[in-house]
Amino acid sequence: NAASKGTYEFYMLKEIDEQPSVMRKISQTYFDENDDVKVDPKIIDSISKADRIYIYAAGTSYHAGLVGKTMLEHYTGIPTEVGLASEAGYHFPMMSKNPFFIFLTQSGETADSRVVLKEVNKRNIPSLTITNVEGSTLSREADYTMLLEAGPEIAVASTKAYTAQIAVQAVLAKALGEALNKAEAKDWNLKHDLAIAAEGMQQLVDSKESLKEIADKYLIKSRNAFYIGRGIDYAVALEGALKLKEVSYIQTEGFAAAELKHGTISLIEKDTPVIALINDPATADLTRGNIQEVVSRGANVVTIAGKDFAREGDNVVLPTINYYMSALLTVVPAQLLAYYASKDKGLDVDKPRNLAKSVTVE
Ligand code: G6P
Repeated sequence: NAASKGTYEFYMLKEIDEQPSVMRKISQTYFDENDDVKVDPKIIDSISKADRIYIYAAGTSYHAGLVGKTMLEHYTGIPTEVGLASEAGYHFPMMSKNPFFIFLTQSGETADSRVVLKEVNKRNIPSLTITNVEGSTLSREADYTMLLEAGPEIAVASTKAYTAQIAVQAVLAKALGEALNKAEAKDWNLKHDLAIAAEGMQQLVDSKESLKEIADKYLIKSRNAFYIGRGIDYAVALEGALKLKEVSYIQTEGFAAAELKHGTISLIEKDTPVIALINDPATADLTRGNIQEVVSRGANVVTIAGKDFAREGDNVVLPTINYYMSALLTVVPAQLLAYYASKDKGLDVDKPRNLAKSVTVE
């Protein structure tokens, strides 16, 4: 059954490996037989009246929201904010005239998000929960639900729910953008992009051994590490850092690549691992410059770059994909690095100390 470990030693790797099939499942669920995107028209009708979208979430789901914001703004033209649920519950954000709230939550049970939804309901603001768990509390308490279709996620460190959240937000951006008559959305072949993502993920999980080598060589003996990137790569840098630190206990921070020179670069010493992500056409060359800055201070740089931006010596080259979908591929090597760093340190990959899969207290 879907929740069994099968031949895997840990759920985390099983769930990383399942991502290509999750992409296909999302494509089947949200496209009809004419390849048209298929989302409950009531949801689209409600959000299309919004002048601003507010995404609230915690942990990895918050990081998926950062990617969703970029997609929603590009394909729908609706300004979108993303926030931490735990911060908004007691310091409610300033509202536009016609707000619409999206809650991203794998479990649908996170207490911090529930507090925000309670306030949203009190104010009669329309809301959508995007969750993996049908009938979960946040699903029942919001006006609308979209399901992630990722299958049960057991490992505490979230992997396939993150990529599923990005894919489902893409579906929403496509359907909403089309309803709003946005050329960017109408011209977007999302079904094709999801197929590209699934194939690309498959290639990446099939070559996982190379990530094990990198983890063993650069990470497991290190006390700290950094992820850097710009644009969507910055959002993935935050998620890559969270993944690595939560399961390997290597203190890792994700930074906007250019911010290094505004302070963080003082933390770079000889052999400090810096994992650089390069998929953003607008800033790829600038990030290369930031890599030079840390190399000259002795960092061990691991480069994960999209094929169109790759240079000789890059450690991982990602298949070409639409920039707005690039997180779906960039995150996979980051997940694998975290997995191997944890496993090769002899840690309990699926159950890192002090963490819970779903946090139902504030
Ligand atoms: C916990 C988990 C994280 C997760 C976060 C939000 O802290 O350990 O992996 O990202 O909760 O959970 P949710 O179910 O709301 O996505």
